Amino acid sequence: MLPSRTQGACLRLPACLAADHRQTRAVNVLVTAGPTREPIDPVRFLSNRSSGKMGYELAAAFQHAGHTVLLVSGPTALDVPDGVDFLPVETAAEMHEAVSHHITRMDIAAFAAAVADYTPAAVAAEKIKKSAGTLTLELVKTPDILGSAREEMKFTGTLVGFAAETENLLAHARGKLVRKGCDLIIANDISQPGIGFDSNHNEVTLVYPDHDAPLPRASKHDLAHQLVQAILEIHLSRTAC
Ligand code: PMT
Repeated sequence: MLPSRTQGACLRLPACLAADHRQTRAVNVLVTAGPTREPIDPVRFLSNRSSGKMGYELAAAFQHAGHTVLLVSGPTALDVPDGVDFLPVETAAEMHEAVSHHITRMDIAAFAAAVADYTPAAVAAEKIKKSAGTLTLELVKTPDILGSAREEMKFTGTLVGFAAETENLLAHARGKLVRKGCDLIIANDISQPGIGFDSNHNEVTLVYPDHDAPLPRASKHDLAHQLVQAILEIHLSRTAC
């Protein structure tokens, strides 16, 4: 007999049976990936050191597990994974608009993009010419896309952020978890050589509300499959009752 709800109570089945039953149900997943580009003039932009590999592997792993995936990505040199819906964007504002438009129909949203935190206050219409001395740019904050998912976008699904830190990794990641209303933060120590930005490998710590779980160094491909399992477990426990 399948699990059923009775007057708000959650019937407890053996965990393996409940998980097997529920994991076969496809869910809608939004993944952000890659850098954003913030134009300065027609030939220059500000950006971040992200290849998009981690986010694309995550999107492919969710798709491989049978889920429906929308990948919202800044500019990368990567091929779109087979079977994944793709929405290319350039700037943080465009990524914010794309996520706002689609997130409410999602069950899970995972934000692997390295979004520029600042953008030029004004974009020069013509190429800025070289002159002697220094050039000062006025920058303004971009929208915090992950940070606006709960309050502004009213997203009630499973919310996963990444944190890329050079110091105090776990403290900063935990701060983001709480401030941005996430169920999980995937914390990268980007001070370590050979992992993080651009590399084919990564080593992360899963930061949950009540504990941390370090994962060993692995290819981004293999790690993405572990991350999908961890995220789906959270999603199942959030939707269990
Ligand atoms: O792309 P790769 O080369 O494979 O590298 C992978 C990665 C290191 C980029 C990835 O694993 C990663 O850590 N992505 C997040 C990088 C980042 O910008 O972290 P952050 O600590 O600045 O941001 C925290 C979270 O808020 C992230 O989920 C980010 O997507 C999100 N954010 C940040 C700023 C902003 N304006 N809007 C956001 O949504």
